[in-house]
Amino acid sequence: MDIKYNLKPASERRTEPFEPQGDVGFGKLRTDHMFMMDYKDGQWQNARILPYGPFEMMPGAMALHYGQSIFEGAKAFMHDDGEIYTFRLDKNAQRLNRSADIVCIPNIPEAVQLEAINALIDVDRLWFPRQEGACLYIRPFVFATEDRLSVSPANQYTFCVVLSPSGAYYGKNLNAIRLLITTQFHRAVSGGTGASKAAGNYAASLRAGKAAAEHGAAQVLYLDSTNQYIEEVGAMNHFHIRKDGTLIIPEFTDTILRSITSESILALGEELGCEVRQETVKLSDFIADIEAGEIVEAGGFGTAAVVSPVGSYIFEDGRIVTVGDGKVGERISHIYKVYTEMQKGLRPAPEGWVRKV
Ligand code: PLP
Ligand code: COI
Repeated sequence: MDIKYNLKPASERRTEPFEPQGDVGFGKLRTDHMFMMDYKDGQWQNARILPYGPFEMMPGAMALHYGQSIFEGAKAFMHDDGEIYTFRLDKNAQRLNRSADIVCIPNIPEAVQLEAINALIDVDRLWFPRQEGACLYIRPFVFATEDRLSVSPANQYTFCVVLSPSGAYYGKNLNAIRLLITTQFHRAVSGGTGASKAAGNYAASLRAGKAAAEHGAAQVLYLDSTNQYIEEVGAMNHFHIRKDGTLIIPEFTDTILRSITSESILALGEELGCEVRQETVKLSDFIADIEAGEIVEAGGFGTAAVVSPVGSYIFEDGRIVTVGDGKVGERISHIYKVYTEMQKGLRPAPEGWVRKV
């Protein structure tokens, strides 16, 4: 791919490695540049890296009206050799295209996405935050730019990638969170867009997020539309661990996002010291098993959150169910350690997971 470079003058861009003073937080900072490419006349074209900043868009741009907009979230880490390595970025590129199919956006060849992201990280490599547990969070997204008000797939799009020097999503230490089990709100229905990272799925989750906060919970645990089965959390897949050490992730369906973290945990299985499998998880059995001490740990998997332990669940009527002693369990701590060590290059990862920029 021929990428045009329109870089900031040296006097306006970072010239020294980024050594943050305080916690960088998640998703707040940006690097100096962004990648853009447009879809027009049936092809992706005009690949460019330019200063991070506002872009022009017509008020009739279809993404603004009908929500044809998708995104991804991936991470890159600095290893002890001082080089930056992406983690399973090919899986994100594949999933962007699965999301694209679901909302009728033209695919972007995986190799093109990978080249774009690597080129951008290369230009802004000094922005890698040199702080314990930090990463470069990679946010690729695609949105419809065609200026038209009839409802059908747009003919023009922009693919953009921005980078965010980031720390932990839920704060520095592994803390057990509380989830609101809601029967009032649903994230997805079969035949809908739940298996995609369509922007609208996240808009639809905000109301439920507010309800979670009102119940003192960090996020919502969604059920299927019959309110019988556990689906996932707003930005994470859900999992639980049984007394015998088996880790269970709900089966991927067309209402659950196929989490790359979950897929990685499934692939690692034995290396994590537990059997990992997927099954349909009935809420009533899940709660009964927690109360009987059969389920001893639970949590969520996601790129931003990594592994997030759940200490308790609250129902809309105020009933609280605590998992084990409500604190971060041993097995989850171990999974977190193994997984993040692989990401940081401190432990060998399966072939192809970690790639140098
Ligand atoms: N489920 C939803 C709805 C998400 O937004 C995310 C975040 O990307 C996940 C699960 C976790 O997926 P991944 O591990 O690929 O980040
Ligand atoms: C991620 O985990 O990368 C996500 O995309 C979640 C995001 C909604 C914060």
